[in-house]
Amino acid sequence: MDFEGIDILSGKQFSRENLDQVLGVAADMDERLREDRSLDLLDGYVMGALFFEPSTRTRLSFETAMHRLGGGVVGFAQAGTSSVAKGESLNDTIRTVNQYVDVIVMRHPEIGSAKQAADVSTVPVLNGGDGAGQHPTQALLDLYTIHVERGGVDGNTIALCGDLKNGRTVHAGVELYKHYACPLIFVAPEPLKMPAEITERLRAEGVDVEETADLESALAKADVLYMTRIQKERFEDPAEYERLKGSYVLTREMVERVNPDVTIMHPLPRVNEITTDVDELPGAAYFREARNGVPVRMALLAMVLGETN
Ligand code: NCD
Repeated sequence: MDFEGIDILSGKQFSRENLDQVLGVAADMDERLREDRSLDLLDGYVMGALFFEPSTRTRLSFETAMHRLGGGVVGFAQAGTSSVAKGESLNDTIRTVNQYVDVIVMRHPEIGSAKQAADVSTVPVLNGGDGAGQHPTQALLDLYTIHVERGGVDGNTIALCGDLKNGRTVHAGVELYKHYACPLIFVAPEPLKMPAEITERLRAEGVDVEETADLESALAKADVLYMTRIQKERFEDPAEYERLKGSYVLTREMVERVNPDVTIMHPLPRVNEITTDVDELPGAAYFREARNGVPVRMALLAMVLGETN
C-alpha cells in the first residue's frame, strides 16, 4: 500500500501487509541511523507537534525522528501555552497549523480527537494518543521491538498486564498482534479488564485470548510480558486509583523464578509496576523499546510524506 498522505489514527487500520511494510522501512531507517547520525529525506519539511497532554517519549522521539530526517519541528507541549487557553477550538487550531506544516502529530485527552483533527486537516495527522482510545505509533514501535527482540513476531505468546481498560497502547497493540497469530493473555484486576467489546471482537476474529487476574501464571506461559501503568488520570475516583495502583509489581525474583527467558516490555512511564532491579536482566527491553521509537517514527513520517528513498 502507498502510505503517502494517509493519517495514522488507530491500530485497526493496518493489514498484515501494511505492518510488514512498516517493519521493513523501520529496519531500514534503523540500519541507516547506525551508519549516519542524520539523513536528508525530509529536508525542508516541517512537523507540527501538538501535545495537549503530558509526554516524554512520544513527543521527543517524534521530534528526534524529524530532526534526524533533516526536517524541522514546531509545536507546543502544553495546551496552556497555545491559543486553546484562550478558548480556540481544536478544529480552528488544526486549520491554522495546516497553514504552516506538512504533517501533524497530536496527543489529546479526548477519545476520537485525532479522527476529528484528521477530518479537518489538509495534511496527514498521526495520533500520538487520544485519551483512553488509541496510540497506534506506540503499538507499531512495540511490534518492531518484539520483531527485533524475538527474531520475529509470529506465534509469540504475549501477556498484557495492568490497566487494560484505560491503556491506549494495549488497545492499539492487540489490533496489530492479531495479524501475527499471537496468543494473547490479558492480565488485569476485574475493574481494569480489557473492554469486553475488544475481547469479544478479537475472539470472533479467531484470536486466542485468555483472561486472568494472576500475573505469575501468565508470566509462566508468555514469550513477551507487556507491563502497563495504572492510568491515574483516567480515574474519576482517586480512592479507586489508590486501591488499584499496586495491583501488579513485577520483581526480579519473580522473573528469575517463573520465566527467565521472557522479554519484558513497557511503554513507560513506569510508576511502581516493575522494580528497578529488573532493569539489568537481559530480557528487560523497555529502554531499547523507547529507542525504537525513533526509527519507527522516522519510517512513519517518511512514508506518509512519500519520501522513503
Ligand atoms: C503511554 C501513553 O501515553 O499512553 N506512554 C507512551 O506513549 N510511551 C503509556 C502511559 O502513559 O502509561
